[in-house]
Amino acid sequence: MTRRFPLPPSRAGIPACVWFTGLALIPALVSTVWPPVSPLPVQVTTWALAIGIAAFTGNRWLKGQLSCPADPRVRDLFEGVPIGLYRSTPEGQILDANRNLVELLGYPNRGTLLATAAMRLYADPADRERWKAVVREKGEVRAFEARMRRHSGGVIWARQSVRAVLDAEGRIEYEGAIEDITERTSAERALRVSEERYGAAFEQAAIGLAEVSPAGRFLRVNRYLCERLGYAEAELLQMTVIEVTHPEDVSATQDYLDRAGETSGPYRREKRYLKKDGTPLWSLMTTSLVRTPDGGPAFFITVIEDLSERKRLEAQLLHAQKLEAVGQLAGGVAHDFSNLIGAIQGYAQLVERTLAPEDPRRADIGEIRKAGQRAAGLIHQLLTFARRQETQPQLVDVNGLVTNLGRLVTRVLGSDIKVSWGLTEDLPAIKVDPGQFEQVILNLAINARDAMPEGGTLGIETSLVQVDQSHVNRQRGSRPGPHVMVTVSDTGTGMPREVLDRIFEPFFTTKGPDRGTGLGLAICYGIVKQAGGNIWVYSEPGHGTTFRLYFPAVLEGAGALSLPESDPALPGGTERLLLVEDDPQMRALALRVLSDCGYDVTAAPDAETAMAELASGGLDPALLVTDLILPGVTGLQMAQALRAEKPGLRVLCMTGQADRVSSSSRRQQGFGLIEKPFTAQTLAQAVRDALDQQPSAISDQPSAN
Ligand SMILES: Nc1ncnc2c1ncn2[C@@H]1O[C@H](COP(=O)(O)OP(=O)(O)OP(=O)(O)O)[C@@H](O)[C@H]1O
Ligand SMILES: [Mg+2]
Repeated sequence: MTRRFPLPPSRAGIPACVWFTGLALIPALVSTVWPPVSPLPVQVTTWALAIGIAAFTGNRWLKGQLSCPADPRVRDLFEGVPIGLYRSTPEGQILDANRNLVELLGYPNRGTLLATAAMRLYADPADRERWKAVVREKGEVRAFEARMRRHSGGVIWARQSVRAVLDAEGRIEYEGAIEDITERTSAERALRVSEERYGAAFEQAAIGLAEVSPAGRFLRVNRYLCERLGYAEAELLQMTVIEVTHPEDVSATQDYLDRAGETSGPYRREKRYLKKDGTPLWSLMTTSLVRTPDGGPAFFITVIEDLSERKRLEAQLLHAQKLEAVGQLAGGVAHDFSNLIGAIQGYAQLVERTLAPEDPRRADIGEIRKAGQRAAGLIHQLLTFARRQETQPQLVDVNGLVTNLGRLVTRVLGSDIKVSWGLTEDLPAIKVDPGQFEQVILNLAINARDAMPEGGTLGIETSLVQVDQSHVNRQRGSRPGPHVMVTVSDTGTGMPREVLDRIFEPFFTTKGPDRGTGLGLAICYGIVKQAGGNIWVYSEPGHGTTFRLYFPAVLEGAGALSLPESDPALPGGTERLLLVEDDPQMRALALRVLSDCGYDVTAAPDAETAMAELASGGLDPALLVTDLILPGVTGLQMAQALRAEKPGLRVLCMTGQADRVSSSSRRQQGFGLIEKPFTAQTLAQAVRDALDQQPSAISDQPSAN
């Protein structure tokens, strides 16, 4: 071991050699100045001894002087280095300390510091023992960090390096250098804390995060991203962004990577990634280039927001909008068609009546009427899909309706198909037109049958479900609250995506022109929607199909239901009628039918003409037969105005598309209704019924409309 720092002056401040030489010379001087006490030989011996001691200690002193701070430059260095230096004994005595250490530890002067036990300089005295153990083993310790106590009691972080040396007497001493790292430590700690926070936020973020090299390699990915893409972290870190990009988005991504160095600001776009299972992941990707201090590209930080849910909802919305538009179109077309078919039907019937029973042309007319009936049926269905059908919603017990349908369903299905029932008891009622509800179940059952040509099982279940907000978020068009859910499932062929996406469109069918009209599900859709419910379907090719119908539950007062039977008799009369119809063919037909039935009919094309007729006097109709939708003043408004003038006036409305507002006003005032297209029988019957209506059923209260 070599001595690195100069020895200090002796502990008493006066060189030891002076003391020893002085002491040795005393007996020599005494023996010389007092000869009687010491004979010559004693004097010689004493002198020799004194000189020997002086020489020996002087030599020692000289030796010490060679490495002591006698060299002012060394001492200056010791004092001046911007680091605390000290020497201490293993027991803790501080032998020396430079000015810097005195200042670093905040002592008033060197003496006070030297008078302090070394272990008291440590916030935790065990720290000193720890580095001593290392020094014992290795001879030195480097960059040992410990908290040290300043004279004021304050604590600083210090880093010290210590080594053991031997002093002149061969005893172990420690030479140490100490620097204050409090500031650096707190900066480092702040950095560490910030890195830990960033790491935790990065890892736990509920959004995909990645650090990507300028060449496109993943450097860091968070758990969310791994889960969304279906890769393990280690797998992604071996991959490039391009490898997990959907083929159709590769070129845009590559372009950005190539030009990123020239751009500034974040880059944001909707993009498809490719999951491990090969399916696309729609995302909103925002990436920013982080630059090195000299401005070069360091890495990209990329934020990946999963848009799957949004895309799904957008698709649902588009689908619903499409159906809505198709519904409007279908409704409009059906309305015009119902007038045309009404005319065809009506005139065919009139011709038929003029023919003798044995006339062979009766059969031809019969065919015309049958074709007309089929067309009328189609129009009826279209109007149902378009939700423009006059309905009679009632509180119904779903289980009762479904059970009543059971026999019919079984007959429709045939013997190869089993029906499995799962009806939950004590369900609340729902409000729906019972006939329409049955139509829905039958349509679904027939579709299921067609999907199970080899046989299978049709499941019909009912249950009460609570539609919550998360369900509403997933299923557009649904509303929160209790619903009666009717599930109709089959074990049939199932449907591929492209079919599934279109099944509710009117006239969409995969069954060929002779087998299906493609109106079945369109009608189901219209009926369920009109009842305020929602329809949901799940299907996979080869795994059957499940339809779930949600009807809002009416929790109190479910009533029994009964369906009114219509009487097809053809009655006549002689009363005076006012007929208002804008469609010339329909007007002429109705005029003809009603005149044939014996009535005295005045016809008008619109409300204004009709009211003018009335105002001219002489016309006192027993019944107003009017189309609801007229140019200018509507049939309903006219009826209300006439009723105000003539309170007992009976009114029969004709309509091709009953809208709900007018129908509620109409019912409120006891107006009758006949749906177009109608036959001569139904018109005659409806007119007779309206004329025979009890006066008490006619309300004189003007409607809010
Ligand atoms: N349960 C089912 N299983 C498999 N495919 C179905 C099922 N239900 C409906 N589909 C498919 O949806 C299409 C449309 O059904 P929709 O009931 O509207 O019309 P359709 O049955 O073809 O004709 P229509 O009901 O007028 O006789 C069907 O052609 C069929 O491809
Ligand atoms: Mg069908």
